[in-house]
Amino acid sequence: MSFTIVEEAPARLNRSELAVPGSSTKFLQKAAESASDVIFLDLEDAVAPDDKPQARKNIVEALNDLDWSGKTVSVRINGLDTHYCYKDVIEVVEGAGDKLDLIMIPKAGTAADIYAIDMLVTQIETAKGFKNRIGFEMIIETALGMQNVFEIAAASPRNESLHFGVADYAASTKARTTNIGGPNKDYYVLTDPLENGERETYWGDMWHYPITQMVVAARANGLRPIDGPFGDFKDPDGYIAQAKRAAVLGCEGKWAIHPSQIELANTVFSPSDEDVAQAKRILEAMEEAEKAGRGAVALDGKLIDYASIKQARVLVDMAEQLKGK
Ligand code: GLV
Ligand code: MG
Repeated sequence: MSFTIVEEAPARLNRSELAVPGSSTKFLQKAAESASDVIFLDLEDAVAPDDKPQARKNIVEALNDLDWSGKTVSVRINGLDTHYCYKDVIEVVEGAGDKLDLIMIPKAGTAADIYAIDMLVTQIETAKGFKNRIGFEMIIETALGMQNVFEIAAASPRNESLHFGVADYAASTKARTTNIGGPNKDYYVLTDPLENGERETYWGDMWHYPITQMVVAARANGLRPIDGPFGDFKDPDGYIAQAKRAAVLGCEGKWAIHPSQIELANTVFSPSDEDVAQAKRILEAMEEAEKAGRGAVALDGKLIDYASIKQARVLVDMAEQLKGK
């Protein structure tokens, strides 16, 4: 370990994160009854400019009047480049800041963006005498944000999670796609001719680099890395594939832009009984090894060592967190 100890953000389940437009009171009500771990009430891109004042009111009302128990609630404010941003923070935090767990900052570009929102939120919390401290989740979805992702991740003690916003990221980097997430048929390698003379096409994952970069920045700062939206909500298999590869890279959860995606995310990001049982076997085997004065042993014909303890602990801790839900 480094002499620098990474402090973890408060532990929260974040397997699924449902996006709900603040302009729809019906959807807000439904979200409160959903099985999503985190719900973000949107003031940004799912809300038309003329609807923003009413959406703020709906959100304040929903935070105060609906039962959100057992869930984490966030509000996605508008970007710092818009004139909506300050009113989003002031109206929502003044109106219901004591009911709010997180603020989602979209298109985070620099550490100063986080600093500015922190200053505003701190003043309101202090003025209102709120006892809770609102946390921050940042969407990394611009080239600037990805360039500065490490500074953004470290910008405030309020920071809890980083999110990969694939749609805006594609727009910002001018990537050649109009899909929201998912694979791209133009991102492939062609094999050399095989024995039968044919060549095979292998699609790659064009989002591998940004997600990995975000995961590293998040984990190096004790934050949760979360994969963003998958737009084709009629394609559960496609969603599951995207969620699984995000989980493999270290993400803790994924957005649901439709209620049908909540259960898919909850399943993919929960360790299976089999995985947990195997992790417990690893912990037991290492305990035995330690007693025998050994740092590494073979389990089922494979080497395990002290690093295996940490890997297994991640799964067992997650299973315990789920039991406590
Ligand atoms: C999310 O906000 C995205 O742009 O993908
Ligand atoms: Mg976006």
